[in-house]
Amino acid sequence: MKVAFFSTTKTDKRVFNEHLKPTSNLEVTYFDAHLNPHTALLAQGFDAICAFVNDDLSAPVLQELADYGIRLITLRCAGFNNIDRDKAAELGIMVLRVPAYSPMAVAEHAVALMMALNRKTHRAYSRVRDSNFTLEGLLGFDMFGKTAGVVGTGRIGQELIRILKGFGMTVLAYDPFPNEQAKIYGADYVTLEELYAESDIISFHVPLLPSTEHMINAQTLATMKDGVMIINTSRGALMQAEDLVEALKSRKVGYLGIDVYEQEENLFFEDHSEEIIDDDIFERLITFPNVLITAHQAFFTQEALDNISQTTLQNLQDFMAGHPNPHNCVLCER
Ligand code: NAI
Repeated sequence: MKVAFFSTTKTDKRVFNEHLKPTSNLEVTYFDAHLNPHTALLAQGFDAICAFVNDDLSAPVLQELADYGIRLITLRCAGFNNIDRDKAAELGIMVLRVPAYSPMAVAEHAVALMMALNRKTHRAYSRVRDSNFTLEGLLGFDMFGKTAGVVGTGRIGQELIRILKGFGMTVLAYDPFPNEQAKIYGADYVTLEELYAESDIISFHVPLLPSTEHMINAQTLATMKDGVMIINTSRGALMQAEDLVEALKSRKVGYLGIDVYEQEENLFFEDHSEEIIDDDIFERLITFPNVLITAHQAFFTQEALDNISQTTLQNLQDFMAGHPNPHNCVLCER
């Protein structure tokens, strides 16, 4: 089976090639390009495509893929908010994903953002390199004894609870479907209103759904503690970014750590250092000293990449064998 991989980096190619068995009957072609209406024609002559978080899998692109005979889309990620599932179903395209590859990787990155913002290590690093050994402006706080709120206690949220309890924090949790493991790790389930009102740090680990879109907005920010730390490693569209700029300016939000941004598909995973960036909200966000942005790297550990690669190649094999793994199906009814 011939498979076109979109949005691949040097690291993706290396890791996939390490796991690709010569006997697998898979013929893989790696494209650096993101999948979008301009690049969809690259899928001509292939049977399946492998896509990533910011590839465009909207109805017109899916139609074009179907016209070229694409029968399977396998996603190298857990989230599938970028695919028009109704259109894929109508076209009879199967969609598989990697539901969990390393929840630890994302939870640990959320903690890395918290700790860097708290102890200002990103600023200390530059200062020391400039032989400036002063401490003014680097004052942090003890995590011990503070209250963290974890919104969404699925795979990643649970891992975060486990780590934060290790700091000696009180951990409040909210999820419409509470689970036992989060309680065993020491979280106390409360209402979302209570979590917002009582937490010093709030970290979001929910999928992007109509019900979660822009859940971090002026109204919800107003109900949080003054100087709250907000961490979002899930999806950019959970946040109304303009409202966060205002909340940072008014000091309502004391720290913001994000690994995702609503319009990130125009920015992340590319080098724009020679260009003028048109997105004024993003540019304003990076000017705040108490904002730390990483470019969707929370998943990016060796262990996660090995798991993504193994599961994706297995998804392709299972499709060829006619037995897709139901746990990995976004859309398997044909
Ligand atoms: P999961 O599916 O295991 O857990 C999500 C949890 O959110 C579930 O328990 C669900 O009940 C809960 N939830 C749904 N609606 C909610 C609401 N309105 N309020 C509170 N909780 C709600 O997902 P997992 O693996 O923990 O991933 C969470 C998100 O993290 C993914 O959807 C994805 O967007 C993001 N992610 C980001 C990565 C990165 O590199 N930055 C990598 C992997 C995932």
